[in-house]
Amino acid sequence: GAIRLADYAPPDWLVPEVSLDFRLSAGSTRVTSRLVVRRNGNHDRPLVLDGQNLKTSFAMLDGEPIDVVPVGERLEIAIVGDAAIVEFEVEISPALNTRLMGLYESEGRLVTQCEAEGFRAITWFPDRPDVLSVYTVRIEGDAALYPVLLSNGDRGAVETGLAGGRHAVTWTDPWPKPCYLFALVAGDLSALRDGFTTMSGRQVELAIWTSAADVPRCAHAMAALKASMAWDEAIYGREYDLGAFNIVAVNDFNAGAMENKGLNIFNSKYILADPETATDSDFDGVAGVVAHEYFHNWTGNRVTCRDWFQLSLKEGLTVFRDQQFSADQGSAAVRRIEDVRGLRAVQFPEDAGPLAHSIRPDHYVEIANFYTATIYNKGAEVIRMLHTLVGAAGFRAGTDLYFERHDGQAVTCEDWVAAMEAATGSDLGQFRRWYEQAGTPRVAVHERREAGKVIVELVQSQSPTPGQAVKLPVHMPFRMALIGRDSGRRIGEERVVEMREAVTRVEFDAVDEPVLLSLNRGFSAPVIIEAEASRTELAFLAGHDDDPSARWEAMQRLALSVLATDDDPAALVSAVAATLMDGTAGKLDAAFVGEAMLLPTESFIGDQAAMVDVEGIHRRREAARLAIATGLEAEWWAALRTYSGSGTALTPAAKGARRLANVALAYLVGAGSAEALAAARIQYETAATMTDRMGALSALVGTDTPERDACLADFHARFAGNNDVIDKWFTVQALSGRPDTLARVEALARHPDFSITNPNRLRSLVGAFAANQRWFHAADGAGYRLLGDQLLAVDRINPQSAARLAVPLGRWRRFDAARGALMRAQLERVTATPRVSRDVLEMASRALV
Ligand code: ARG
Ligand code: ZN
Repeated sequence: GAIRLADYAPPDWLVPEVSLDFRLSAGSTRVTSRLVVRRNGNHDRPLVLDGQNLKTSFAMLDGEPIDVVPVGERLEIAIVGDAAIVEFEVEISPALNTRLMGLYESEGRLVTQCEAEGFRAITWFPDRPDVLSVYTVRIEGDAALYPVLLSNGDRGAVETGLAGGRHAVTWTDPWPKPCYLFALVAGDLSALRDGFTTMSGRQVELAIWTSAADVPRCAHAMAALKASMAWDEAIYGREYDLGAFNIVAVNDFNAGAMENKGLNIFNSKYILADPETATDSDFDGVAGVVAHEYFHNWTGNRVTCRDWFQLSLKEGLTVFRDQQFSADQGSAAVRRIEDVRGLRAVQFPEDAGPLAHSIRPDHYVEIANFYTATIYNKGAEVIRMLHTLVGAAGFRAGTDLYFERHDGQAVTCEDWVAAMEAATGSDLGQFRRWYEQAGTPRVAVHERREAGKVIVELVQSQSPTPGQAVKLPVHMPFRMALIGRDSGRRIGEERVVEMREAVTRVEFDAVDEPVLLSLNRGFSAPVIIEAEASRTELAFLAGHDDDPSARWEAMQRLALSVLATDDDPAALVSAVAATLMDGTAGKLDAAFVGEAMLLPTESFIGDQAAMVDVEGIHRRREAARLAIATGLEAEWWAALRTYSGSGTALTPAAKGARRLANVALAYLVGAGSAEALAAARIQYETAATMTDRMGALSALVGTDTPERDACLADFHARFAGNNDVIDKWFTVQALSGRPDTLARVEALARHPDFSITNPNRLRSLVGAFAANQRWFHAADGAGYRLLGDQLLAVDRINPQSAARLAVPLGRWRRFDAARGALMRAQLERVTATPRVSRDVLEMASRALV
């Protein structure tokens, strides 16, 4: 049954204080808990607790043993007075916990993940985010197996020399928090240590915990943490609030990371980085996720969510904050383009398919299925629009008021918008529709001249989404400008048009040269633009628009227009040449040029049409790649010489140079000369960074050459045992354009290094393969079958991992009847399987409708 926002009721009982005592062992951990409970309001309802896979050995109410009879995963306790002490002892088994929710084992360490509903697998508790408690946690364990014992807050009493070689540590967290922010880690860990002095002069001890061998690989994460702490003070006035901040990196983790109060737990992929093993984009990922989790300390922890329908309250806002931070640290223009590319690759298709939901959904079956690109990334776009509408100073006034009003509370998206409104005096009434409506709005642009003036009509519309037939116009900021067709310059100022009605008319003063429109600059609104433009006009904008996002977009539109037909790609080749020349002439930075040179992916091309022409898209895109490669061979060699050899520096300039050099190398290898293959081989062997080694390997992986085989074999041998790097080895092969890719993926699924229990490894092969449009969608359905097999196998082990694999099959409507039927057949096979998890069942049945 679905859980509905409309059914929300405040908790009947609050739990102001909790004490937990863990006696750890991997096979059987004993958890004793003591809950101080208090009646909330005037009612006579029982205390309701959640619990999952708990072996309850005793329960007590105010010191007296009571009989407890759980009904399913709930327990009701009748209490006479207005306050009571409830105690339990339960037994749980971390070693048998393959779902990676609650307390589980990863490489001999014990670690927790409680968001959203994992705490109920640790002990009986009202597992909902609007119950906030102060925690005292005693952890006892074998001193040799678990020398380091961590929990939230500040470390207190240490007990050494306990019987049986055991020791214990007690932690207290003074800040009331919901149980989803509880965390515990035990294991043989070493720390990279540092310190930070907050703006009010408080000393904070920082530590990032991992295996001793990996400690040096934490330096980038540590630098990012300190930069984040300083940035949040400078930009938002937010200071850290405990004496210690700990981060732990583990290899088995369902998500990217988790913002547990004072004890963030990370997927090691987002902590460990050095030039040997991490690409530039991995380094950016580490800094971005470290910042994200740190920023949650205020947007998520100090102010938390009332219920899980409000998830975007913390996630959309925190993603926006981490995007702002990353933009401030490097090349803001390139960062914005990357964010837009990601949004359109993942969130737009979500909005256009059966899984569409608004950023504040009103029902769900399994909340784990709602950690989506919509909640996170579209949520961040909605916050960004607010920022544009009220301006940076207004936005800061709004966040100040939000923190002032709601510190220590569990609140709603409405509370957030209301604070923004109150602080700025703006009317956000209509803006609230963004929280309710699913789907991506379209903006059609019509332009005409009247007495020298340029008149632009913006017409917004939106198609129905599942369960939401009627869509109303939304309030959005639409940044636009005019570009002179003769001068190539911007004419007049940029305008921020506030669209509210279905039709918005914009008038620009008379201009004396022909003009082109620069639309949705900076991607100010997360919409699909429908505007007529010839290839010549797009090529002109791709060469002259002064807004980087709009300029990049012009090149994308030009490429899409060329790739939609079998026309000669000459127009695209010359636009690429012009941009490349602007780069070599120093007029554009290399990172932007590298970004602009990349053709839209096959799936993005497919997203533009009602029906995806799998083979046609692949063929035309390969032909265009070849034309760009051979038509500009001399230019690519020049670019490769100019931009390679930038060492290991992580400056925007060095990263941009590596990016462009690798784009050049990929085109050269695509043109197929022996010199290019040799250059790729040499770059692979002499690379100073993983970016360059991976760049060479990716360029070679689609070829049928001895260089390819040699480099793949070397890569595997060279990085044996390094999980994050071996993941790349799986991914690069799963994404290959070679016709034997499906067979390779099948073989890799039987490789000794493949593991279905490790979420990163599963994603690196199966998740990546599902993104390979040409070969996942092989006409005989073998790709779908492989996915179905893996999904069902992992569902018994880890339902969250399994549910994610259902998403690509949900796109069946976009493919021809034969493929659609094969995709549906896999979904039906899944729903017909006995004892399939609730996670998977929800995803597969929504996808089938
Ligand atoms: N709150 C975590 C983050 O920052 C993610 C938790 C993921 N939980 C899940 N069930 N997938 O963004
Ligand atoms: Zn988050």
